[in-house]
Amino acid sequence: MKKTIMLIAAMCMTSAITFAQEIIRVSTEKTDLVMKVSPKGRLYQVYLGDKLQNPADYENLKWDVYAASDGAVCQRGHEVYATSGAEDYFEPAVAVTHADGNMSTYLYYKSSEQKAVKGGTETVIILQDKVYPLTVKLHYVAYPKENVIKAWSEISHKEKSAITLWRYSSTMLYFKSSKYYLTNYHSDWAKEGQPETTQLSTGKKIIDTKLGTRAAMHAEPFFELGFDEPAKENEGKVMLGTIGWPGNFRFTFEVDNVGALRVIPAINPYASDYKLKAGEVFTTPEFIFAMSDNGMGEASRNLHDWARQYQVNMGTGDRLTLLNNWENTGFDFNQQSLAELMKDAKDLGVDMFLLDDGWFANKYPRKDDHAGLGDWEATKSKLPEGIPGLVRDAKKAGVKFGIWIEPEMVNPKSELFEKHPDWVILQPQRDTYYYRNQLVLDISNPKVQDYVFGIVDRIMTENPEVAYFKWDCNSVITNIYSPYHKQNQGNFYIDHVRGIYNVLTRIHNKYPNLPMMLCSGGGGRMDYEMLKYFTEFWCSDDTDPYERIYIQWSLSKFFPTKTMGSHVTNWNKNTSVKFRTDVCSSCKLGFDIDLKSLSTDDYKFVQQAVKNYNSMKPIILEGDQYRLVSPYEGSHCAINYVSKDKQRAVLFAYDLHPRYKEPQQNVKLQGLDAAKMYTVKETNLMPGKQSDLDCNGKQYSGDYLMKVGLNVFTAQDGTSHVLVLE
Ligand code: DGJ
Repeated sequence: MKKTIMLIAAMCMTSAITFAQEIIRVSTEKTDLVMKVSPKGRLYQVYLGDKLQNPADYENLKWDVYAASDGAVCQRGHEVYATSGAEDYFEPAVAVTHADGNMSTYLYYKSSEQKAVKGGTETVIILQDKVYPLTVKLHYVAYPKENVIKAWSEISHKEKSAITLWRYSSTMLYFKSSKYYLTNYHSDWAKEGQPETTQLSTGKKIIDTKLGTRAAMHAEPFFELGFDEPAKENEGKVMLGTIGWPGNFRFTFEVDNVGALRVIPAINPYASDYKLKAGEVFTTPEFIFAMSDNGMGEASRNLHDWARQYQVNMGTGDRLTLLNNWENTGFDFNQQSLAELMKDAKDLGVDMFLLDDGWFANKYPRKDDHAGLGDWEATKSKLPEGIPGLVRDAKKAGVKFGIWIEPEMVNPKSELFEKHPDWVILQPQRDTYYYRNQLVLDISNPKVQDYVFGIVDRIMTENPEVAYFKWDCNSVITNIYSPYHKQNQGNFYIDHVRGIYNVLTRIHNKYPNLPMMLCSGGGGRMDYEMLKYFTEFWCSDDTDPYERIYIQWSLSKFFPTKTMGSHVTNWNKNTSVKFRTDVCSSCKLGFDIDLKSLSTDDYKFVQQAVKNYNSMKPIILEGDQYRLVSPYEGSHCAINYVSKDKQRAVLFAYDLHPRYKEPQQNVKLQGLDAAKMYTVKETNLMPGKQSDLDCNGKQYSGDYLMKVGLNVFTAQDGTSHVLVLE
């Protein structure tokens, strides 16, 4: 064993290494996940926590050994990928009914290897059953600098006929701590990202959804864990986790008999007993997690850095500001009115005009949400010159042109439905239930995949200057029955999502530089698999700035600002345009409002705010985010961004509903260079208005700003301040 440890120590110095058989270590700069092979050849997790500095200590790590009720000593520890039908009586990571009907699986360690991948090291561990030709490959990619690990699995077999998978988790992680606090996020339409914290006790807590087309609504596919105490922002041991899967997901949290917490992120096996043929590979979604000893702020910043560099489409690229027409015109527009809006977009100073829903279908024109989905030809009566005419008008106005599609859906009132009723998820002999008057296409069917790919491909081929897509997905799957899968309905939910990936991969390969916004009736789709294809997502249809402050706060735990679309609208008109704009400026800024209805001052303000945003954008989109004052803990909110070189920072301060005569606390900034001097300047001021902040125009050291802070809150609801520090 001594030899093994030395071997590991030597190998750790190289980047692409193969570990000795007994110990496998997945490490970032701060976290160690250590696994050990038992004498019987099974693989156990023996450690997950702060990085161990002394390789000799791995020898001391043991799987739990304890006495069973009959007095015999069991060697039952925490198996890395616990199976069903073996000696672990808790929720398994994988469960299989073999071709002969046997429902037990024992996995034995076969081999492992490590290789360098972009930004980190990938460890692949092969486990095999000895009785059945079943193989599980566990993948872990550790990103050392960002302290992020992503994990997924592949299941395959060579049995005589298909096997049935009924559990297929992405990974399985065990934690040991005195107490566990889970913060999960519940949601609904226009109510995304609502946190709820509970202490986990013995037994299971399951967070899942069964929506088919989207991961979220009612429950979000991300969570926080606080160890020993509820997760805090700047201190304490925490973990942030999220699954990359825009379909049914399930997180299982189970505290077992020895007080260990088992975290099992997975596709929801609901109605999904999956028939896997010999030779096929079942790949699970990626589960992404970040651990920190310094609270969620640090874990989030690490996730943001990781996401921008390694996961999000064009993650290090710029983002376009835009004017959208949905909240302004709804379905009521024509070529002429759109041409006017394009000029407005130019005058406002944004990069792009984004045309939303309502531009398509001729036999059943899309004049409200009852018809037309599926018929992606511009409505001639509204847009006589079609998309080419719109592209030309946008060019004339001097802005880019983006367009909304909802390609996975169909209205029964459409030519597509008339032509291909067998392309639609539908119960032929039952009453049909509609969600927003529409149905979902059966994207598990390759012909439907071709059709969906063709929607984007045709628009792009005919109009190569289309600069952006907003890809919406408003319906969940109702009337679940796939005409394509016929006798094999258990595979449908999963193959449907894979069909979407096939389409998106084709689009991405052909149009790698095409920015796209992911939208699903607001924020029903926010996940890191879809973000491989999309540059950003729509956080919520709720654009009331008060509500948005809470939603954006929650989502920022998991996603970088540049992926979070935020538009100034008329939701909650009682608030000032400045307040609304300041809330959106802390994310990826856009507008979706009738600019002509703004007062002269408000209009001048938004024009200037776009210019200000453009100059602050590198700090807001590429810098480090510090959540300073939580809206959940009082009546204010503050966030600051700091450029990577710490030369510049932006502070956003919002007053929500302060109490009468409430004493105001200073906002202490974070992430600055204590030794540097910063000049503070208030920006986003209403025309002709001087800053009323005492700190405006003054110089402070980073040390002062972080220890004493600035007096930027007021007792007035709906007030906001944006400060640039240089
Ligand atoms: C739902 C989206 O969230 C909205 O932004 C808008 O695009 C509508 N769909 C259009 O139908």
